[in-house]
Amino acid sequence: MAKSVHIRSGSAEYELPITDGTIRATDLRQIPTDDGPLATYDPGFVNTAACRSAITFIDGDAGVLEYRGYPIEQLAETSSYLEVAYLLLKGELPTPAQLAQWENDVNHHRLVHENAKDIISKSRYDSHPMAKLMSSVASLHAFYPGSRNISDPEEREVNVIRLLAKMPTLAAFAYRHSLGRNYIYPSDELNFIENFLAMLFKRQERHYKADERLVRAIDVLFILHADHEQNCSTNAVRAVASAGNDPYTSAVAGIAALFGPLHGGANEAVLKMLAEIGSVDRVPEFIEGVKAGRAKLMGFGHRVYKNYDPRARIIKKSAEEVFEVTGVNPRLKIAQELERIALGEEYFVSRKLYPNVDFYSGLIYEALSFPPAMFTVMFAVPRTSGWMAQWQEGVLDPEQKIMRPRQIYTGHRGRTWVPVQDR
Ligand code: CMC
Repeated sequence: MAKSVHIRSGSAEYELPITDGTIRATDLRQIPTDDGPLATYDPGFVNTAACRSAITFIDGDAGVLEYRGYPIEQLAETSSYLEVAYLLLKGELPTPAQLAQWENDVNHHRLVHENAKDIISKSRYDSHPMAKLMSSVASLHAFYPGSRNISDPEEREVNVIRLLAKMPTLAAFAYRHSLGRNYIYPSDELNFIENFLAMLFKRQERHYKADERLVRAIDVLFILHADHEQNCSTNAVRAVASAGNDPYTSAVAGIAALFGPLHGGANEAVLKMLAEIGSVDRVPEFIEGVKAGRAKLMGFGHRVYKNYDPRARIIKKSAEEVFEVTGVNPRLKIAQELERIALGEEYFVSRKLYPNVDFYSGLIYEALSFPPAMFTVMFAVPRTSGWMAQWQEGVLDPEQKIMRPRQIYTGHRGRTWVPVQDR
């Protein structure tokens, strides 16, 4: 295997060492060009490592995903979301005593300041719940100004826990606000997921008890969404954190990035697409439109996975379990037909486009009676554990610097200003 790269430029030859399958981009600067020292051009960071990370491993060709070395299939089968959040943040699975303490710590911080709640209440009733989530999370550092002291380990720890704990509360408030329903406060009698479902769906009953199969399905969905290495929103979190920002301010960048339809907003876009297709017999026509470049098959394709997304496989199974409780989502048949046809078509095969995590998750959320606008919120709540693990890793990494990419300047130079009447 190559240990170094040799670059010939004119009569000079440069040797750049290879470490961990990469060359240091700054090593290229010793090579002069007509436009200055050599740099790399990589829009979308398609082939650029921006950090070292020990949190999540993906082998996109083999369809492998591991958190801290544990395969996602094992975690989804046996763990709880809070246990996985502990694993992501601390690097090891908790002992029973550590897990009990961790659950206690997180559950203790689920309440939000009434004024943070008011930020949601003062929004338009029909504003997107992601907008409400973003603005309320953005406000949190104002309630916890100590969070700005990111060099203090205690401040780091408590504010990460606070954010993990308050995300479901803010998400549930954003949902209920859009329905004009009263807010349900966290309950000590319920665990993290049961409590989240109660804050979302409780009506007049004295004790809300979600079906255990639904509690488990949400737990699994949360595990699958918890982290995914250097995706768009995690990169946004790390970029904002690199300027020395607190967990809340950094997480807002993640929520904003996740909102995009090419990222976490894809689950909402999938449901819109299925609604537009309308019936199974119109699937072939839609696929023809995708092949002709008139539409994208939302929920398909991935920057890293060039094989079946392992999360999509697990979600498909969860969907069947949820539909046992809720009844089958009628759009499932359209999704299955899309998958069946796409996986046999040259267009998708040659581009290695397979269903991703968002293809089936929206069907589950719809069956649970969430409106599509809530789907990305349901992604943001668990992804917070990954964002915070990555935030913490970035803050503690001595190699990390403020993120500041280069550009290739394509504009004018040295023009002379002209008074407005002479233009
Ligand atoms: N439908 C149709 N064609 C597609 C799709 C799709 N969903 N995805 C990629 N392609 C085509 C694309 O047009 C290109 O074709 P060509 O080589 O002829 O120009 C080729 O496949 C390579 O795609 P790309 O856009 O260069 O790939 P990328 O790595 O830049 O984009 C992606 C990855 C996820 C943004 C893209 O596949 C996509 O837009 N998918 C639909 C949105 C989606 O489901 N997003 C969720 C991603 S997973 C969860 C998450 O990260 O939040």
